[in-house]
Amino acid sequence: MTPAKTQLIVALDVDSAAKALAHVDRLKDCVEWFKVGKQLFTLEGPAIVRELKARGVKVFLDLKFHDIPNTVAEAVASSLAIGADMVNFHASGGSEMIRTAVEKNRATRPDALLIGVTVLTSMDQKTLDEIGLPFTPEQAVLRFAAIAQKGGADGVVCSAWEIEPIKKALGSSFKVVVPGIRPGGSASDDQKRIMTPAQAAAAGADFIVVGRPILQATDPKAAALAVLAEIGR
Ligand code: C5P
Repeated sequence: MTPAKTQLIVALDVDSAAKALAHVDRLKDCVEWFKVGKQLFTLEGPAIVRELKARGVKVFLDLKFHDIPNTVAEAVASSLAIGADMVNFHASGGSEMIRTAVEKNRATRPDALLIGVTVLTSMDQKTLDEIGLPFTPEQAVLRFAAIAQKGGADGVVCSAWEIEPIKKALGSSFKVVVPGIRPGGSASDDQKRIMTPAQAAAAGADFIVVGRPILQATDPKAAALAVLAEIGR
């Protein structure tokens, strides 16, 4: 079976709604998905999600919830109510936290993707040792991905290096959302476990998340089109 094609999510990591919307207006005829993270959401609030939805694009609200089960379930409900199409929570919160969120929200928005965060792509062995997790990054990612699946999540965020082991262990329909993507020749910034768009697509990524290589390019639209060409879109 040919795997479904990889989709591009552009991370709107900017400091104002005006800048975010200018990027979306420039990119929306070639990019369907945009990610609103903590920086933009904390400044601009739910209005930015509603403005993106009014432009007809899909929104990944990347707030990485981690709290008691009821609080996470209600935060996911609020995210879906303002129009988010993909929402995430830390899988390290445990399968009960995830199951509570999934059970509360599945029926109201069956189309929405509920995604667990495994290990941040900026974390390496040194970071895991520091926080006392007795695993390699790959072992930790697989453990958290299994917890997310047990709780009923649709998939996980992970680095491109863990796509194949996750699909092998948890099945090809369990979605993987992959940040830490760097087109050949671009700076790695603070990302540690990186791959190119083409490598991530070949490994089976359902979504790749790209921020700085597109937003900080001299011509963001040309940069987005180059990424899309690399993933065969
Ligand atoms: O600029 P860059 O392409 O590195 O942006 C990657 C985006 O993906 C950022 O918004 C970052 O917060 C997010 N992210 C990540 N690692 C994760 C989850 C999300 O880099 N595990």
